[in-house]
Amino acid sequence: MAVPERDRTDLTDPTWWRDAVVYQVYPRSFADGNGDGIGDFAGLIDRIPYLERLGVDAIWLSPFYPSALADGGYDVDDYRDVDPRIGTLQQFDEVVAASHAAGVRVIVDIVPNHSSDRHEWFRAALAAGPGSPERDRYVFRDGLGEHGELPPSDWVSHFGGSAWTRVPDGQWYLHLFAPEQPDWNWEHEEVREDFHRTLRFWSDRGVDGFRVDVAHALAKDLGEPLRSHPHVNSMDIEIDGTNPLFDRDDVHEIYRGWRRVFEEYDPPRTAVAEAWVPVERRVLYAKPDELGQAFEFDLVKADWDAAQFREVIVDSLERATAAGASSTWTFSNHDVVRHASRFGLPAGTDLNAWLLSDGAEPVEDVALGARRARAAVLLLLALPGSAYVYQGEELGLREVADLARDDLEDPIWLRSQHTEKGRDGCRVPLPWTAEGPSFGFGTGGAHLPQPAWFAEHAASVEDGDAGSMLELYRAALALRHTLHTGPALQWQDSAAEVLHFERSGGWHVVVNLGTEAAPLPAGEVLLASAPLEDGLLPSDAAAWVRVSG
Ligand code: NOJ
Ligand code: CA
Repeated sequence: MAVPERDRTDLTDPTWWRDAVVYQVYPRSFADGNGDGIGDFAGLIDRIPYLERLGVDAIWLSPFYPSALADGGYDVDDYRDVDPRIGTLQQFDEVVAASHAAGVRVIVDIVPNHSSDRHEWFRAALAAGPGSPERDRYVFRDGLGEHGELPPSDWVSHFGGSAWTRVPDGQWYLHLFAPEQPDWNWEHEEVREDFHRTLRFWSDRGVDGFRVDVAHALAKDLGEPLRSHPHVNSMDIEIDGTNPLFDRDDVHEIYRGWRRVFEEYDPPRTAVAEAWVPVERRVLYAKPDELGQAFEFDLVKADWDAAQFREVIVDSLERATAAGASSTWTFSNHDVVRHASRFGLPAGTDLNAWLLSDGAEPVEDVALGARRARAAVLLLLALPGSAYVYQGEELGLREVADLARDDLEDPIWLRSQHTEKGRDGCRVPLPWTAEGPSFGFGTGGAHLPQPAWFAEHAASVEDGDAGSMLELYRAALALRHTLHTGPALQWQDSAAEVLHFERSGGWHVVVNLGTEAAPLPAGEVLLASAPLEDGLLPSDAAAWVRVSG
Protein backbone atom coordinates (compact mmCIF):
# COMPACT_ATOMS: atom_id res chain seq x y z
CA MET A 1 0.00 0.00 0.00
CA ALA A 2 1.41 3.38 -0.98
CA VAL A 3 1.94 5.95 1.72
CA PRO A 4 0.47 9.38 0.91
CA GLU A 5 3.22 11.92 0.50
CA ARG A 6 3.04 14.94 2.73
CA ASP A 7 5.33 17.93 2.80
CA ARG A 8 6.28 18.01 6.44
CA THR A 9 8.08 21.31 6.03
CA ASP A 10 4.90 23.04 4.86
CA LEU A 11 4.61 25.70 7.54
CA THR A 12 0.95 26.34 6.78
CA ASP A 13 -0.14 22.79 7.67
CA PRO A 14 -2.39 23.05 10.76
CA THR A 15 -1.97 19.37 11.66
CA TRP A 16 1.85 19.25 11.71
CA TRP A 17 2.07 18.74 15.47
CA ARG A 18 0.08 15.50 15.50
CA ASP A 19 3.04 13.41 14.40
CA ALA A 20 5.95 15.82 14.71
CA VAL A 21 9.34 14.87 16.08
CA VAL A 22 10.35 17.64 18.44
CA TYR A 23 13.91 18.18 19.66
CA GLN A 24 14.25 19.73 23.09
CA VAL A 25 16.91 22.40 23.36
CA TYR A 26 18.02 23.32 26.86
CA PRO A 27 19.50 26.61 25.68
CA ARG A 28 22.13 27.18 28.35
CA SER A 29 23.68 23.79 27.60
CA PHE A 30 23.27 23.47 23.84
CA ALA A 31 25.92 25.63 22.14
CA ASP A 32 27.82 28.68 23.35
CA GLY A 33 28.43 31.31 20.68
CA ASN A 34 30.46 33.83 22.67
CA GLY A 35 32.64 31.62 24.84
CA ASP A 36 31.28 32.60 28.25
CA GLY A 37 30.37 29.02 29.16
CA ILE A 38 26.62 29.51 28.77
CA GLY A 39 24.73 28.37 25.70
CA ASP A 40 23.05 31.12 23.73
CA PHE A 41 21.07 32.01 20.62
CA ALA A 42 24.24 32.70 18.60
CA GLY A 43 25.32 29.11 19.28
CA LEU A 44 21.87 27.78 18.49
CA ILE A 45 21.63 29.65 15.18
CA ASP A 46 24.95 28.10 14.14
CA ARG A 47 23.58 24.64 14.85
CA ILE A 48 20.29 24.87 13.00
CA PRO A 49 21.82 23.11 9.98
CA TYR A 50 22.71 20.25 12.36
CA LEU A 51 19.08 20.03 13.48
CA GLU A 52 17.84 20.19 9.91
CA ARG A 53 20.26 17.40 8.95
CA LEU A 54 19.10 15.38 11.95
CA GLY A 55 15.62 15.59 10.46
CA VAL A 56 13.51 16.90 13.33
CA ASP A 57 10.27 18.77 12.66
CA ALA A 58 10.48 21.27 15.49
CA ILE A 59 12.57 22.48 18.39
CA TRP A 60 11.24 23.14 21.85
CA LEU A 61 13.25 25.79 23.67
CA SER A 62 13.37 25.45 27.43
CA PRO A 63 13.18 28.91 29.10
CA PHE A 64 15.51 31.57 27.70
CA TYR A 65 13.86 34.45 29.54
CA PRO A 66 15.63 36.81 31.96
CA SER A 67 16.15 34.83 35.15
CA ALA A 68 18.36 34.61 38.21
CA LEU A 69 18.58 30.87 37.41
CA ALA A 70 17.30 29.78 40.79
CA ASP A 71 15.74 26.88 38.86
CA GLY A 72 17.51 26.67 35.53
CA GLY A 73 15.42 29.48 34.03
CA TYR A 74 12.05 28.15 35.23
CA ASP A 75 12.09 31.21 37.48
CA VAL A 76 11.06 33.83 34.94
CA ASP A 77 11.65 37.54 35.59
CA ASP A 78 9.98 38.73 32.42
CA TYR A 79 7.93 36.47 30.14
CA ARG A 80 8.33 38.73 27.14
CA ASP A 81 12.08 39.19 26.91
CA VAL A 82 15.33 37.28 26.45
CA ASP A 83 18.03 36.75 29.07
CA PRO A 84 20.91 39.00 27.92
CA ARG A 85 23.30 36.10 28.57
CA ILE A 86 21.37 34.14 25.94
CA GLY A 87 20.76 36.90 23.45
CA THR A 88 18.28 39.51 22.36
CA LEU A 89 14.75 39.59 21.02
CA GLN A 90 16.21 40.34 17.62
CA GLN A 91 18.29 37.17 17.82
CA PHE A 92 15.20 35.27 18.88
CA ASP A 93 13.60 36.43 15.64
CA GLU A 94 16.67 35.12 13.82
CA VAL A 95 16.26 31.73 15.52
CA VAL A 96 12.67 31.58 14.29
CA ALA A 97 13.54 32.76 10.79
CA ALA A 98 16.47 30.37 10.41
CA SER A 99 14.46 27.46 11.81
CA HIS A 100 11.52 28.13 9.56
CA ALA A 101 13.78 28.49 6.55
CA ALA A 102 15.03 24.99 7.41
CA GLY A 103 11.46 23.67 7.74
CA VAL A 104 11.81 23.39 11.52
CA ARG A 105 9.11 24.86 13.78
CA VAL A 106 9.73 26.53 17.13
CA ILE A 107 7.97 25.77 20.41
CA VAL A 108 8.68 27.88 23.49
CA ASP A 109 8.27 27.01 27.14
CA ILE A 110 5.61 28.89 29.11
CA VAL A 111 5.88 28.80 32.90
CA PRO A 112 2.46 29.80 34.20
CA ASN A 113 2.39 28.33 37.70
CA HIS A 114 4.97 30.70 39.12
CA SER A 115 7.11 33.67 38.18
CA SER A 116 10.45 34.50 39.74
CA ASP A 117 10.64 36.64 42.84
CA ARG A 118 12.28 39.28 40.65
CA HIS A 119 9.21 39.64 38.41
CA GLU A 120 7.97 43.24 38.45
CA TRP A 121 4.58 42.18 39.83
CA PHE A 122 6.14 40.24 42.69
CA ARG A 123 8.32 43.22 43.60
CA ALA A 124 5.19 45.39 43.49
CA ALA A 125 3.40 42.89 45.73
CA LEU A 126 6.19 43.04 48.31
CA ALA A 127 6.28 46.84 48.21
CA ALA A 128 2.51 47.30 48.43
CA GLY A 129 2.03 45.33 51.64
CA PRO A 130 -0.63 43.03 53.13
CA GLY A 131 -4.17 43.29 51.80
CA SER A 132 -3.14 45.23 48.67
CA PRO A 133 -4.44 44.39 45.19
CA GLU A 134 -0.81 43.82 44.15
CA ARG A 135 -0.50 40.97 46.67
CA ASP A 136 -3.63 39.39 45.34
CA ARG A 137 -1.90 38.43 42.08
CA TYR A 138 0.13 35.93 44.12
CA VAL A 139 -0.84 33.75 47.08
CA PHE A 140 -0.13 35.64 50.28
CA ARG A 141 -1.56 34.56 53.66
CA ASP A 142 -1.07 35.36 57.31
CA GLY A 143 0.71 32.67 59.26
CA LEU A 144 -0.66 30.40 61.95
CA GLY A 145 0.45 30.45 65.59
CA GLU A 146 0.09 33.23 68.13
CA HIS A 147 2.25 35.66 66.15
CA GLY A 148 1.75 34.24 62.69
CA GLU A 149 5.12 32.57 63.00
CA LEU A 150 3.99 29.26 61.52
CA PRO A 151 3.35 28.70 57.80
CA PRO A 152 -0.33 28.87 56.77
CA SER A 153 -0.42 25.15 55.95
CA ASP A 154 1.81 22.09 56.01
CA TRP A 155 2.33 22.06 52.25
CA VAL A 156 5.81 20.96 51.24
CA SER A 157 7.58 22.36 48.21
CA HIS A 158 8.51 20.12 45.33
CA PHE A 159 12.18 20.85 45.99
CA GLY A 160 11.92 20.17 49.72
CA GLY A 161 11.10 22.33 52.74
CA SER A 162 7.94 24.33 53.37
CA ALA A 163 6.01 25.61 50.35
CA TRP A 164 5.65 28.93 52.22
CA THR A 165 8.20 31.67 52.79
CA ARG A 166 7.75 34.57 55.18
CA VAL A 167 8.37 38.15 54.08
CA PRO A 168 9.61 40.92 56.41
CA ASP A 169 6.13 42.32 57.15
CA GLY A 170 5.12 38.91 58.52
CA GLN A 171 2.96 37.50 55.70
CA TRP A 172 3.80 34.29 53.88
CA TYR A 173 3.67 33.50 50.16
CA LEU A 174 3.15 30.17 48.46
CA HIS A 175 5.75 28.52 46.21
CA LEU A 176 5.29 24.93 45.12
CA PHE A 177 8.89 24.99 43.90
CA ALA A 178 11.83 27.12 45.13
CA PRO A 179 11.25 30.21 47.32
CA GLU A 180 12.43 32.24 44.30
CA GLN A 181 9.37 30.93 42.40
CA PRO A 182 6.23 32.48 43.92
CA ASP A 183 2.98 30.91 42.67
CA TRP A 184 0.54 33.04 40.71
CA ASN A 185 -3.05 33.40 41.83
CA TRP A 186 -4.93 32.17 38.79
CA GLU A 187 -8.22 33.44 40.13
CA HIS A 188 -6.96 36.92 39.39
CA GLU A 189 -8.19 38.30 36.08
CA GLU A 190 -5.00 40.31 35.46
CA VAL A 191 -2.90 37.17 35.75
CA ARG A 192 -5.06 35.40 33.19
CA GLU A 193 -4.93 38.37 30.84
CA ASP A 194 -1.21 38.78 31.20
CA PHE A 195 -0.62 35.19 30.08
CA HIS A 196 -2.85 35.73 27.06
CA ARG A 197 -0.68 38.71 26.28
CA THR A 198 2.44 36.55 26.55
CA LEU A 199 0.97 33.86 24.28
CA ARG A 200 0.19 36.52 21.68
CA PHE A 201 3.57 38.19 22.09
CA TRP A 202 5.43 35.02 21.04
CA SER A 203 2.81 33.93 18.53
CA ASP A 204 3.15 37.32 16.83
CA ARG A 205 6.89 36.68 16.61
CA GLY A 206 6.20 33.50 14.66
CA VAL A 207 6.35 30.89 17.39
CA ASP A 208 4.48 27.73 16.37
CA GLY A 209 3.56 26.35 19.77
CA PHE A 210 4.04 26.23 23.52
CA ARG A 211 5.16 23.69 26.08
CA VAL A 212 3.22 24.35 29.27
CA ASP A 213 5.17 23.91 32.49
CA VAL A 214 3.42 22.16 35.40
CA ALA A 215 0.16 22.55 33.52
CA HIS A 216 -1.78 20.69 36.20
CA ALA A 217 -0.98 23.06 39.06
CA LEU A 218 -2.54 26.39 38.12
CA ALA A 219 -5.99 26.03 39.66
CA LYS A 220 -5.79 25.52 43.42
CA ASP A 221 -8.27 25.17 46.22
CA LEU A 222 -7.19 28.06 48.42
CA GLY A 223 -10.40 28.30 50.43
CA GLU A 224 -9.97 28.80 54.17
CA PRO A 225 -8.98 26.90 56.13
CA LEU A 226 -6.31 25.71 53.71
CA ARG A 227 -6.63 21.99 53.34
CA SER A 228 -3.68 20.04 54.57
CA HIS A 229 -1.86 17.63 52.34
CA PRO A 230 1.24 15.80 53.36
CA HIS A 231 3.38 16.36 50.31
CA VAL A 232 3.09 18.10 46.96
CA ASN A 233 5.90 16.57 44.93
CA SER A 234 4.40 17.15 41.50
CA MET A 235 6.25 14.25 39.90
CA ASP A 236 4.98 11.73 42.39
CA ILE A 237 1.61 12.71 43.80
CA GLU A 238 -1.57 10.96 44.63
CA ILE A 239 -4.16 12.26 42.21
CA ASP A 240 -7.37 11.09 43.74
CA GLY A 241 -9.47 14.23 43.65
CA THR A 242 -8.45 15.26 47.14
CA ASN A 243 -5.33 17.17 46.25
CA PRO A 244 -5.93 20.91 46.79
CA LEU A 245 -3.05 21.90 44.53
CA PHE A 246 -2.88 19.61 41.52
CA ASP A 247 -5.09 18.53 38.66
CA ARG A 248 -8.24 20.27 39.75
CA ASP A 249 -11.10 20.37 37.30
CA ASP A 250 -11.10 24.20 37.18
CA VAL A 251 -7.72 24.19 35.46
CA HIS A 252 -9.35 23.21 32.18
CA GLU A 253 -11.24 26.48 31.95
CA ILE A 254 -7.86 28.25 31.77
CA TYR A 255 -6.75 26.15 28.80
CA ARG A 256 -10.02 26.61 26.96
CA GLY A 257 -9.21 30.32 27.15
CA TRP A 258 -5.71 29.65 25.80
CA ARG A 259 -7.18 27.64 22.94
CA ARG A 260 -9.20 30.67 21.91
CA VAL A 261 -5.95 32.63 21.68
CA PHE A 262 -4.26 29.85 19.67
CA GLU A 263 -7.14 29.89 17.21
CA GLU A 264 -6.57 33.58 16.48
CA TYR A 265 -3.58 32.44 14.40
CA ASP A 266 -3.27 30.69 11.10
CA PRO A 267 -2.23 27.98 11.43
CA PRO A 268 -3.48 27.79 15.02
CA ARG A 269 -0.71 27.68 17.60
CA THR A 270 -0.19 24.34 19.31
CA ALA A 271 0.60 23.31 22.84
CA VAL A 272 1.77 20.37 24.90
CA ALA A 273 1.06 20.00 28.59
CA GLU A 274 3.60 18.92 31.15
CA ALA A 275 1.21 17.21 33.55
CA TRP A 276 2.50 14.45 35.80
CA VAL A 277 -0.90 12.88 36.33
CA PRO A 278 -2.33 9.45 35.47
CA VAL A 279 -3.15 8.87 31.83
CA GLU A 280 -6.93 9.01 32.25
CA ARG A 281 -6.63 12.54 33.65
CA ARG A 282 -3.71 13.55 31.44
CA VAL A 283 -5.65 13.27 28.21
CA LEU A 284 -8.11 15.89 29.46
CA TYR A 285 -5.38 18.49 28.94
CA ALA A 286 -4.88 17.23 25.40
CA LYS A 287 -8.44 17.65 24.21
CA PRO A 288 -8.79 19.63 20.96
CA ASP A 289 -10.45 22.56 22.73
CA GLU A 290 -7.56 22.75 25.19
CA LEU A 291 -3.84 22.14 24.65
CA GLY A 292 -4.01 19.35 22.05
CA GLN A 293 -1.22 17.25 23.54
CA ALA A 294 0.15 16.15 26.91
CA PHE A 295 3.45 14.35 27.45
CA GLU A 296 3.18 10.60 27.83
CA PHE A 297 5.39 10.28 30.91
CA ASP A 298 4.73 6.63 31.64
CA LEU A 299 7.51 5.60 29.25
CA VAL A 300 9.88 7.81 31.22
CA LYS A 301 9.01 5.79 34.30
CA ALA A 302 8.74 2.30 32.77
CA ASP A 303 11.45 -0.34 33.19
CA TRP A 304 12.95 -2.05 30.14
CA ASP A 305 10.15 -4.53 30.13
CA ALA A 306 7.88 -5.58 27.26
CA ALA A 307 4.76 -5.96 29.40
CA GLN A 308 5.17 -2.48 30.89
CA PHE A 309 5.86 -0.89 27.51
CA ARG A 310 2.93 -2.66 25.89
CA GLU A 311 0.53 -1.60 28.61
CA VAL A 312 1.62 2.03 28.40
CA ILE A 313 1.36 2.08 24.60
CA VAL A 314 -2.04 0.39 24.43
CA ASP A 315 -3.52 2.54 27.15
CA SER A 316 -2.12 5.81 25.91
CA LEU A 317 -3.16 5.27 22.30
CA GLU A 318 -6.64 4.28 23.29
CA ARG A 319 -7.17 7.25 25.55
CA ALA A 320 -5.52 9.80 23.30
CA THR A 321 -7.63 8.64 20.36
CA ALA A 322 -10.80 8.81 22.44
CA ALA A 323 -9.92 12.36 23.49
CA GLY A 324 -9.20 13.45 19.90
CA ALA A 325 -5.55 14.03 20.77
CA SER A 326 -2.37 12.37 19.51
CA SER A 327 0.05 10.58 21.81
CA THR A 328 3.21 12.41 22.74
CA TRP A 329 6.06 9.98 23.43
CA THR A 330 9.35 10.61 25.15
CA PHE A 331 12.09 8.77 27.02
CA SER A 332 14.13 11.68 28.34
CA ASN A 333 14.02 15.36 29.19
CA HIS A 334 15.93 17.86 31.33
CA ASP A 335 14.26 16.63 34.55
CA VAL A 336 15.10 12.93 34.48
CA VAL A 337 18.13 10.62 34.38
CA ARG A 338 19.14 10.07 30.74
CA HIS A 339 17.62 6.86 29.45
CA ALA A 340 20.92 5.48 28.08
CA SER A 341 21.90 5.23 31.77
CA ARG A 342 18.51 4.25 33.10
CA PHE A 343 18.36 1.25 30.77
CA GLY A 344 21.90 0.23 31.73
CA LEU A 345 20.95 -0.07 35.40
CA PRO A 346 19.03 -2.95 36.97
CA ALA A 347 15.24 -2.48 36.79
CA GLY A 348 13.92 -0.76 39.87
CA THR A 349 17.20 1.01 40.70
CA ASP A 350 16.69 3.94 43.06
CA LEU A 351 18.08 6.58 40.71
CA ASN A 352 18.53 9.18 43.41
CA ALA A 353 20.58 6.78 45.54
CA TRP A 354 22.59 5.90 42.44
CA LEU A 355 23.34 9.59 41.83
CA LEU A 356 24.27 10.08 45.47
CA SER A 357 26.82 7.27 45.05
CA ASP A 358 28.20 9.24 42.07
CA GLY A 359 27.15 6.41 39.83
CA ALA A 360 29.18 3.79 41.72
CA GLU A 361 26.36 1.67 43.09
CA PRO A 362 24.93 -0.15 41.24
CA VAL A 363 27.50 -0.17 38.44
CA GLU A 364 26.01 0.98 35.14
CA ASP A 365 26.29 -1.47 32.25
CA VAL A 366 27.26 1.12 29.66
CA ALA A 367 27.17 -1.21 26.66
CA LEU A 368 23.76 -2.57 27.62
CA GLY A 369 22.35 0.93 28.12
CA ALA A 370 23.62 1.98 24.70
CA ARG A 371 22.16 -1.10 23.02
CA ARG A 372 18.81 -0.49 24.60
CA ALA A 373 18.86 3.22 23.80
CA ARG A 374 19.43 2.28 20.15
CA ALA A 375 16.45 -0.05 20.25
CA ALA A 376 14.40 2.54 22.16
CA VAL A 377 14.65 5.18 19.46
CA LEU A 378 13.38 2.72 16.85
CA LEU A 379 10.37 2.13 19.09
CA LEU A 380 9.88 5.84 19.87
CA LEU A 381 9.94 6.89 16.24
CA ALA A 382 7.63 4.09 15.12
CA LEU A 383 4.77 4.84 17.47
CA PRO A 384 1.71 6.73 16.19
CA GLY A 385 1.68 10.32 17.38
CA SER A 386 4.52 12.72 18.05
CA ALA A 387 7.89 12.10 19.67
CA TYR A 388 10.10 14.32 21.78
CA VAL A 389 13.85 13.77 21.88
CA TYR A 390 16.08 15.53 24.37
CA GLN A 391 19.30 17.18 23.24
CA GLY A 392 22.27 14.82 23.44
CA GLU A 393 20.30 11.58 23.34
CA GLU A 394 21.03 11.47 19.61
CA LEU A 395 24.71 11.35 20.60
CA GLY A 396 24.07 8.50 23.02
CA LEU A 397 24.91 10.66 26.03
CA ARG A 398 24.57 9.03 29.41
CA GLU A 399 23.86 10.72 32.71
CA VAL A 400 26.89 12.47 34.21
CA ALA A 401 26.39 10.83 37.56
CA ASP A 402 29.62 11.91 39.25
CA LEU A 403 29.31 15.69 39.19
CA ALA A 404 31.07 17.12 42.23
CA ARG A 405 28.80 18.49 44.95
CA ASP A 406 30.36 21.94 44.58
CA ASP A 407 29.45 22.08 40.91
CA LEU A 408 25.75 21.36 41.30
CA GLU A 409 23.34 24.08 40.14
CA ASP A 410 19.98 22.41 40.74
CA PRO A 411 18.10 23.93 43.72
CA ILE A 412 17.03 20.40 44.65
CA TRP A 413 20.50 19.72 46.07
CA LEU A 414 20.31 22.48 48.67
CA ARG A 415 16.58 22.39 49.32
CA SER A 416 16.61 18.65 49.92
CA GLN A 417 19.35 19.24 52.50
CA HIS A 418 21.76 17.26 50.36
CA THR A 419 19.60 14.17 50.18
CA GLU A 420 18.94 14.51 46.43
CA LYS A 421 21.58 15.42 43.90
CA GLY A 422 19.05 16.70 41.39
CA ARG A 423 18.98 17.04 37.63
CA ASP A 424 22.31 18.53 36.58
CA GLY A 425 23.66 15.22 35.29
CA CYS A 426 21.42 15.39 32.21
CA ARG A 427 22.06 19.11 31.67
CA VAL A 428 25.81 19.05 31.06
CA PRO A 429 26.70 21.07 27.91
CA LEU A 430 26.84 19.04 24.70
CA PRO A 431 30.09 17.82 23.11
CA TRP A 432 30.35 18.98 19.50
CA THR A 433 34.01 18.10 18.91
CA ALA A 434 36.40 15.62 20.52
CA GLU A 435 39.00 18.29 21.18
CA GLY A 436 39.12 21.84 22.38
CA PRO A 437 37.83 23.65 25.41
CA SER A 438 34.41 22.32 26.40
CA PHE A 439 34.46 19.86 23.49
CA GLY A 440 33.36 22.49 21.02
CA PHE A 441 30.41 23.61 23.16
CA GLY A 442 32.10 27.00 23.00
CA THR A 443 35.52 28.57 22.89
CA GLY A 444 35.58 28.85 26.68
CA GLY A 445 34.52 26.49 29.42
CA ALA A 446 31.18 24.93 30.21
CA HIS A 447 28.91 25.97 33.08
CA LEU A 448 28.75 22.34 34.25
CA PRO A 449 31.96 20.31 33.86
CA GLN A 450 31.99 17.72 31.08
CA PRO A 451 33.57 14.31 31.71
CA ALA A 452 36.45 13.05 29.51
CA TRP A 453 34.21 10.34 28.01
CA PHE A 454 32.16 13.05 26.30
CA ALA A 455 34.87 13.09 23.60
CA GLU A 456 33.69 9.71 22.28
CA HIS A 457 30.18 11.10 21.88
CA ALA A 458 31.09 14.33 20.10
CA ALA A 459 28.87 15.11 17.14
CA SER A 460 31.96 15.43 14.92
CA VAL A 461 33.12 11.94 15.92
CA GLU A 462 29.75 10.32 15.29
CA ASP A 463 29.08 12.20 12.08
CA GLY A 464 29.57 9.77 9.19
CA ASP A 465 30.23 6.76 11.43
CA ALA A 466 27.60 4.27 10.29
CA GLY A 467 27.58 2.54 13.67
CA SER A 468 27.04 5.68 15.72
CA MET A 469 23.93 6.72 17.61
CA LEU A 470 23.80 9.95 15.61
CA GLU A 471 23.66 8.12 12.29
CA LEU A 472 21.00 5.77 13.66
CA TYR A 473 18.84 8.75 14.67
CA ARG A 474 19.37 10.38 11.27
CA ALA A 475 18.50 7.20 9.40
CA ALA A 476 15.45 6.51 11.53
CA LEU A 477 14.16 10.08 11.19
CA ALA A 478 14.66 10.09 7.42
CA LEU A 479 12.82 6.79 7.09
CA ARG A 480 10.06 7.82 9.45
CA HIS A 481 9.24 10.74 7.23
CA THR A 482 8.55 8.36 4.37
CA LEU A 483 6.73 5.73 6.46
CA HIS A 484 4.95 7.35 9.35
CA THR A 485 1.29 7.82 8.78
CA GLY A 486 -2.04 7.13 10.39
CA PRO A 487 -2.99 7.16 14.04
CA ALA A 488 -3.12 3.38 14.56
CA LEU A 489 -1.02 0.26 14.90
CA GLN A 490 -1.92 -3.41 14.75
CA TRP A 491 -0.32 -5.73 17.26
CA GLN A 492 1.07 -8.98 15.83
CA ASP A 493 1.56 -12.31 17.58
CA SER A 494 4.94 -12.49 19.30
CA ALA A 495 6.72 -13.91 22.31
CA ALA A 496 5.81 -12.14 25.55
CA GLU A 497 9.14 -10.32 25.70
CA VAL A 498 8.88 -9.05 22.15
CA LEU A 499 6.81 -6.13 20.90
CA HIS A 500 5.69 -6.53 17.32
CA PHE A 501 3.24 -4.24 15.58
CA GLU A 502 2.42 -3.13 12.10
CA ARG A 503 1.80 0.41 10.97
CA SER A 504 0.12 1.14 7.69
CA GLY A 505 1.99 0.47 4.46
CA GLY A 506 3.36 -2.89 5.60
CA TRP A 507 5.77 -1.25 8.05
CA HIS A 508 6.51 -3.79 10.80
CA VAL A 509 8.26 -2.85 14.01
CA VAL A 510 9.85 -5.49 16.23
CA VAL A 511 11.49 -4.71 19.57
CA ASN A 512 13.14 -7.54 21.45
CA LEU A 513 13.25 -6.83 25.19
CA GLY A 514 13.90 -10.45 26.07
CA THR A 515 17.06 -12.53 26.38
CA GLU A 516 16.51 -14.85 23.39
CA ALA A 517 16.93 -13.84 19.75
CA ALA A 518 13.57 -13.31 18.07
CA PRO A 519 12.33 -14.03 14.53
CA LEU A 520 11.50 -11.18 12.17
CA PRO A 521 8.66 -11.21 9.66
CA ALA A 522 9.68 -12.02 6.10
CA GLY A 523 10.41 -8.83 4.21
CA GLU A 524 12.98 -6.13 3.67
CA VAL A 525 14.84 -5.03 6.80
CA LEU A 526 14.84 -1.26 6.52
CA LEU A 527 16.76 -0.51 9.68
CA ALA A 528 18.03 -2.45 12.67
CA SER A 529 19.53 -1.18 15.90
CA ALA A 530 22.03 -4.10 16.00
CA PRO A 531 23.34 -6.62 13.45
CA LEU A 532 21.00 -9.58 12.99
CA GLU A 533 22.25 -12.99 14.11
CA ASP A 534 21.44 -15.71 11.58
CA GLY A 535 18.50 -13.63 10.44
CA LEU A 536 17.21 -13.27 14.01
CA LEU A 537 16.81 -10.08 16.01
CA PRO A 538 19.16 -10.29 19.01
CA SER A 539 18.24 -9.41 22.56
CA ASP A 540 17.80 -5.67 23.32
CA ALA A 541 17.48 -4.71 19.70
CA ALA A 542 14.79 -3.42 17.36
CA ALA A 543 14.16 -3.54 13.64
CA TRP A 544 11.89 -1.98 11.03
CA VAL A 545 10.84 -4.38 8.31
CA ARG A 546 8.83 -3.73 5.15
CA VAL A 547 6.48 -6.62 4.52
CA SER A 548 4.93 -6.53 1.10
CA GLY A 549 1.67 -8.02 0.01
C1 NOJ B 1 8.97 21.43 35.36
C2 NOJ B 1 10.24 21.78 34.66
O1 NOJ B 1 10.46 20.88 33.61
C3 NOJ B 1 11.31 21.74 35.72
O2 NOJ B 1 12.59 21.80 35.17
C4 NOJ B 1 11.05 22.86 36.69
O3 NOJ B 1 11.95 22.77 37.76
C5 NOJ B 1 9.64 22.78 37.26
N1 NOJ B 1 8.66 22.48 36.28
C6 NOJ B 1 9.25 24.10 37.88
O4 NOJ B 1 9.07 25.08 36.90
CA1 CA C 1 27.30 32.31 25.74
